[in-house]
Amino acid sequence: MIAIVTGASSGMGSEMVKLMIRTKVTLDEIWILGRRKERLISMQKRFPGTRFRLVPIDLTVREEMESFGRLLEQEKPEVRIFVHAAGFGIMGRIDEIPVEEMEEMVDTNVKSCVSLTSYILPYMAEGGQMIYFASSAAFLPQPGFAVYAASKAFVLSYVRALRAECSHRDLRITAVCPGAVNTEFFNRAAADRPLPAYKRMVMAEADAVVKKAWKDNNKNREISVYSLPMKLFRIAAKIIPHTCFLRFMGH
Ligand SMILES: NC(=O)c1ccc[n+]([C@@H]2O[C@H](COP(=O)([O-])OP(=O)(O)OC[C@H]3O[C@@H](n4cnc5c(N)ncnc54)[C@H](OP(=O)(O)O)[C@@H]3O)[C@@H](O)[C@H]2O)c1
Repeated sequence: MIAIVTGASSGMGSEMVKLMIRTKVTLDEIWILGRRKERLISMQKRFPGTRFRLVPIDLTVREEMESFGRLLEQEKPEVRIFVHAAGFGIMGRIDEIPVEEMEEMVDTNVKSCVSLTSYILPYMAEGGQMIYFASSAAFLPQPGFAVYAASKAFVLSYVRALRAECSHRDLRITAVCPGAVNTEFFNRAAADRPLPAYKRMVMAEADAVVKKAWKDNNKNREISVYSLPMKLFRIAAKIIPHTCFLRFMGH
């Protein structure tokens, strides 16, 4: 039995790995994925009692993804847990952000979600857990964060449909939709601008968001939303017409 965790080199993916170790989930090996190999190595060094398989991979590179697919075919692992935490965002208007970076966001957040799910689903063990990091940005179109919000709306929609398609199987599948979380995410997301005050006000800690996501997935909840402000935001986005929000949010 193994766990596969993308985005394991920092932030919430890394916290997920720590949580599995802390709570002594029965696993033969944890496969940790990320581009920064040195981070994966330091995770391994930090937990010498845990068996890791380090998978340095850029999820936007087709050859690297295909080679991961082949690794699964060779190993035929029983996957008990799949966490897809890799992702990034860049704030800015559509006409400000270089098109290559917007495409990279789509490849990292959307395409990898589709490919990895198709690769991993046949190996998911009955009783297995699948946890995908979407975002509260999925609840509403976001001018000034358009591609990221749209990519996470894709993830949320995709995961909900996946869950429905897998209802005949014993799998717990959850989309995690946090608001702003204190990780390296904003180093890139807001590299050239100050973080909006409302994001700073609702900023959550990664370990708390991950703990809640784990609990919600264990209860087989479809969506995990951490903190009252984000729960209220989700309700507001359901009942208030989006055009009302967009009128105020337009830059
Ligand atoms: N922080 C927030 O405010 C927030 C809010 C809502 C949702 N989320 C979502 O939560 C997830 C985790 O984010 P985080 O906050 O933990 O951010 P983070 O600390 O920046 O972690 C992002 C992870 O994604 C990996 N990654 C990025 N691009 C990759 C690529 N091309 N190939 C392979 N791995 C890649 C990074 O690893 P390498 O750089 O080593 O490749 C890193 O481990 C993301 O999907 C994010 O969109 C974040």
